[in-house]
Amino acid sequence: MDCMKVLDRLGRPLTSLRLSVTDRCNLRCQYCMPEQDYVWLPRADILTFEEIDTLVDVFTGVGVDRVRITGGEPLLRKNLPDLIALLARKTAIEDLALTTNGILLADQLEALRAAGLPRITVSLDTLHADRFKALTRFDSLDVVLRGLELATSAGFDSVKIDTVVIRAVNDDELVPILALGQRLGAEVRFIEYMDVGGATRWSMQDVVSRQEMLRRLSAHFGPISAVDEDTAAPADRFTLPDGTVFGIISSTTEPFCRQCDRSRVTADGLWYRCLYARTGTDLRGPLRSGVGADGLREIVATTWQARDDRGAEDRLATKDRSPLIPVETLLDEPHLEMHTRGG
Ligand code: GTP
Ligand code: 5AD
Ligand code: SF4
Repeated sequence: MDCMKVLDRLGRPLTSLRLSVTDRCNLRCQYCMPEQDYVWLPRADILTFEEIDTLVDVFTGVGVDRVRITGGEPLLRKNLPDLIALLARKTAIEDLALTTNGILLADQLEALRAAGLPRITVSLDTLHADRFKALTRFDSLDVVLRGLELATSAGFDSVKIDTVVIRAVNDDELVPILALGQRLGAEVRFIEYMDVGGATRWSMQDVVSRQEMLRRLSAHFGPISAVDEDTAAPADRFTLPDGTVFGIISSTTEPFCRQCDRSRVTADGLWYRCLYARTGTDLRGPLRSGVGADGLREIVATTWQARDDRGAEDRLATKDRSPLIPVETLLDEPHLEMHTRGG
């Protein structure tokens, strides 16, 4: 199929697709799933690998060349390596990666590598076992560290560590987490705490800004320089005096919407063109009613051309910021959850 590239109303191409393969998670991180109960997507609605295959071809047909597998926790999806093998064979995908919380990583590493997964990102917010338990409700720091450590010697092109930084929770761990990344050869990215769906306990006071992170890190390591690169990636990269490279994702205080080339498909086939968007486009319906690849491509292209989302920038302009979505609304519409949309 010929590739027909599309631009949205702000001239942004559609090049990156985040594919959520399940809304289930085996942790309960305070910044993402702090409630006791959740409403799960109906099983019958979850896309099969065959359906995902068709959708991915539709997206590569309009310019997508980067795919990231997300969740929930993607390693909970049964037979995930089969899907990875299928995606790894697609020549239109130049960059294939997966984001995981690391709990099942040690068990599945071999299968993931054998399936041809090139790149992996592990979420890790603390190196203290008691904090890990308080933050995630599970006493599993050792398991995650073991998975991460094994991953760094498993032959991936790159292993990254994602750390959400929250004041008075883990903001004293910037230096030790960077040091772990140095030791393991994994690039660390510090993420500003975001007021997205699911983050119902969010408050601006808990956000540690990129500026503050840089101040603290340079107080310890010495002068930090910005890596000069012009990409659509959410992380801005920096170098320590010894050459260590790390990233900061500053969605809350310095959003990057102007360059945003990414969109998300949920496990049940809803397509969201912004992390903060209230509504998505149902692709499962047309897919299952036999609209066919050309019809789907038409839906995706036309919808992208109408896109003008700048969710994080709109939030920045909001006075007296509080959590984006009330808990009751999340119970009615789980698609507003970060764990449904993929982080
Ligand atoms: P690389 O391709 O390795 O640079 O990864 P990535 O930065 O695209 O993906 P990753 O899953 O590691 O993203 C890290 C975090 O950045 C996500 O979990 C979100 O918290 C945040 N993030 C990613 N994409 C977006 C986005 O489109 N908008 C906003 N506001 N935040 C995002
Ligand atoms: N703020 C920032 N990042 C978040 N994630 C989920 N919720 C939030 C939030 N409120 C992202 C992080 C984490 C992944 C599981 O999802 O990147 O590592
Ligand atoms: Fe893209 Fe929306 Fe994130 Fe902005 S807030 S970077 S438009 S997903």
